[in-house]
Amino acid sequence: MHRAERFVRSVFSVAPSPEQVLWASSFLTAPEQRLFLRMSSVDQSHSIGVARAVAAHLDQVGLDESDPEAVWLMAAALLHDVGKSVSGLGTYGRVVATVSEALGGSDMGAHWAERSGMTRKVGLYMQYPQLGADLLALAESDDRVVAWALEHHLPQEQWTLDENCALLLQQADDGRLDKA
Ligand SMILES: [Fe+2]
Ligand SMILES: [Fe+2]
Repeated sequence: MHRAERFVRSVFSVAPSPEQVLWASSFLTAPEQRLFLRMSSVDQSHSIGVARAVAAHLDQVGLDESDPEAVWLMAAALLHDVGKSVSGLGTYGRVVATVSEALGGSDMGAHWAERSGMTRKVGLYMQYPQLGADLLALAESDDRVVAWALEHHLPQEQWTLDENCALLLQQADDGRLDKA
């Protein structure tokens, strides 16, 4: 199995360039930067991709990149998946977690998180939106950055963010926007 894992990693884990990390850091506070750097390279690259797409479409919410009001949106894009870093799961484990969630239902996450070994890691991974929100609250991030980490996989009716901002973040996360 681990040969397959190495293959998947070699195909997908492209670390972001130092310039990209520097660009990302310019939108983050010092504690947020530390959280960002704890993420895996795959997650860092994904998050930078989401942030670039948001940056290219800020006009959808009447902002541009130099606007101080855009900073929380960029931070939300960069840190929405930060809870994934808690589980310590690699590509193979994430596949297991995704399949387990499909088979057992997302309610199993909390039970599994109390077990040990792989079961615990899978359980933690399934709870990553909550874990991410907790990490960001401890880092004293903007309330909207905390909210988006928690809400980004919830149905739209349960979002607390401004709807247009949340839609922009979601479209960027789903790869539906070009990065210009
Ligand atoms: Fe996510
Ligand atoms: Fe994401």
